[in-house]
Amino acid sequence: TWTMVNIVDEQVERIREQVGDARVICALSGGVDSSVAAALVQRAIGDQLTCVFVDHGLLRKDEAAQVERDYVAATDVNLKVVDAADQFLGHLAGVTDPEEKRKIIGREFIRTFEAAEIEILQTPGTPVRFLVQGTLYPDVVESGGGEGAANIKSHHNVGGLPEDLQFSLIEPLRTLFKDEVRQVGEQLGLPPAMVWRHPFPGPGLAIRIVGAVDAERLRIVREADAIAREELTAAGLDRDVWQFPVVLLGDVRSVGVQGDGRTYGHPIVLRPVSSEDAMTADWSRLPFELLERISTRITNEVPEVNRVVLDVTSKPPGTIEWE
Ligand code: XMP
Repeated sequence: TWTMVNIVDEQVERIREQVGDARVICALSGGVDSSVAAALVQRAIGDQLTCVFVDHGLLRKDEAAQVERDYVAATDVNLKVVDAADQFLGHLAGVTDPEEKRKIIGREFIRTFEAAEIEILQTPGTPVRFLVQGTLYPDVVESGGGEGAANIKSHHNVGGLPEDLQFSLIEPLRTLFKDEVRQVGEQLGLPPAMVWRHPFPGPGLAIRIVGAVDAERLRIVREADAIAREELTAAGLDRDVWQFPVVLLGDVRSVGVQGDGRTYGHPIVLRPVSSEDAMTADWSRLPFELLERISTRITNEVPEVNRVVLDVTSKPPGTIEWE
């Protein structure tokens, strides 16, 4: 729409004025907000922007490729990819407590991002003075509206920012709501799969495995999640659901039967919810035929899973995620 064209043009102008010939860095998560914010800044200042994508190995199927391939193709952004999967898995080994998982992931994320940042600072060129943040209007309001207010809500930016932040913030989405951000994303030609992505927690699949996280469990939950998402999309219901966590109960086993053999596998929990803002949520009444297709495919295609259950708890009392 014409208003979105205006927002893009207006922001591009503002960013150029704010930045001058300085360089800018941005942490890309693959989520909607950082992707759109970075694309706007790229549109404004091109190569002066460098994005860092820390692949912590806890993303869903194809998400890393989406950033590295499709996003770069769509935006021409200067991207530095850090493959840190082994490092994150190493630190997570044997950890079962949800908050401990979050702490480790937040800490490692900052470490990894800072190392990448130092490399960028050392490359020759004009000084790096700015950091892009995908702060939206509701974040500004929720945290009191001050400059840099987004930093208060560490929940939404993996672990928050380093405390001795030496950059000024560029927050081109500060006046926008999520649906407007999506329209800007479409306007900028971002891949629809990114623009319409459901919210996904920074700690990723690590908090969708109840129990310790390892490569094998990640593979199981990743496959199950891919099937659920594929079927939801095929049913045309993506935009009717706020989020659709798929959770692996890593330490639970139950008896089943398959072919002519007894199985002793893990349950997968389907947690589709509808919500306006994630503060409260209701369990989504997905069509039984869709749930059946998802269940059949998961148990057929993921041999370690022999049972699929549906979470019918609202928030409150349940949270959206299981951890
Ligand atoms: P809960 O589970 O608390 O989740 O109902 C509310 C919303 O927040 C997301 N979530 C997180 N996002 N880091 C994040 O970036 C986290 O540690 C985290 N934990 C939950 C969740 O996916 C939902 O959208």
